[in-house]
Amino acid sequence: MAFFTHQICRGLSTSAVRSVVIKHVTIIGGGQMGAGIAQVAASTGHSVTLVDTNEDILKKAVKGIEGNLKRVVKKKFADKPEAGEEFIQKSLKNVSTSTDAASVVHGTDLVVEAIVENLKIKQDLFGGLDKLAPAHTIFASNTSSLSITDIASSTNRLDRFGGLHFFNPVPVMKLVEVIGMSATSQETLDSLLNFSKTLGKTPVSCKDTPGFIVNRLLLPYLIEAVRMYERGDGSKEDIDIAMKLGCGYPMGPLELSDYVGLDTMKFIMDYWSAANPENPGFAQSELLNKLVAEGKLGKKTGEGFYKYK
Ligand code: NAI
Repeated sequence: MAFFTHQICRGLSTSAVRSVVIKHVTIIGGGQMGAGIAQVAASTGHSVTLVDTNEDILKKAVKGIEGNLKRVVKKKFADKPEAGEEFIQKSLKNVSTSTDAASVVHGTDLVVEAIVENLKIKQDLFGGLDKLAPAHTIFASNTSSLSITDIASSTNRLDRFGGLHFFNPVPVMKLVEVIGMSATSQETLDSLLNFSKTLGKTPVSCKDTPGFIVNRLLLPYLIEAVRMYERGDGSKEDIDIAMKLGCGYPMGPLELSDYVGLDTMKFIMDYWSAANPENPGFAQSELLNKLVAEGKLGKKTGEGFYKYK
């Protein structure tokens, strides 16, 4: 893949400022999201270093990437198996792994963090890397619910810090939310938008507000459906059927809650309601709290609003 230096001229100014052309990406966290981002970046010609806390997780992540690439090739290269094999090998060659982020960031253009959803841990990670990464390196978090401004506060590169919010499963979902804080520079935003496009994604720009665009609209909708069910306004089946047939949504809100994970929903709602106690849209649901306390977290545990085999 060819990379082009992208220059931006502001108005009539003669001083052209450059956005960073991202060739090397360090992805920290080799779980669901990090491995997905690594797969997409590697298969679009970027050099990727995937970092996690231990070798076993990294081996599993690379194996998962290989398996996914094989599935892609079966569909996309059905008539050209040799080209398909070459695509797999080329993509895998673009991925290296490490258990030590500090030792790999010296040569990277972009750090994408996709580790556990915990503010302090994310701040500690970025605070440490800030001292080691080159000046031009952009830092981005894939957080779903935390404030980018809070995460970035442990660094001295606020102008080169933003959010890059991918959706699960990353290789399939087309959207990336590119989040700018008030301190994020236009060059950084342009670099992140361009990078998202080179991944074959459609980026949208948004501000650093709770939930950005998608989750800010989705979570209150899901939690209101939980409250409706809790109040007895409708059965869970009827609430789901109503939104599928009435709005053309592929899943009803209670089915979707089970898919997202009730613990994840609770975590996000608790965080938002603590930060915005006056907003009734973020208020607690007793039923959600009860299901989470009972370990009924949705599809992943076999039971949430519905039972799964
Ligand atoms: P996950 O639990 O599958 O993966 C997290 C990985 O980070 C684990 O492999 C863990 O070992 C590793 N890790 C934890 N601390 C680390 C550290 N200090 N250094 C290196 N590696 C570390 O989590 P998942 O689902 O991939 O989520 C990661 C991030 O992406 C979270 O911030 C989450 O909010 C966000 N996100 C999740 C989505 C989802 O649907 N799962 C969607 C969009 C964003």
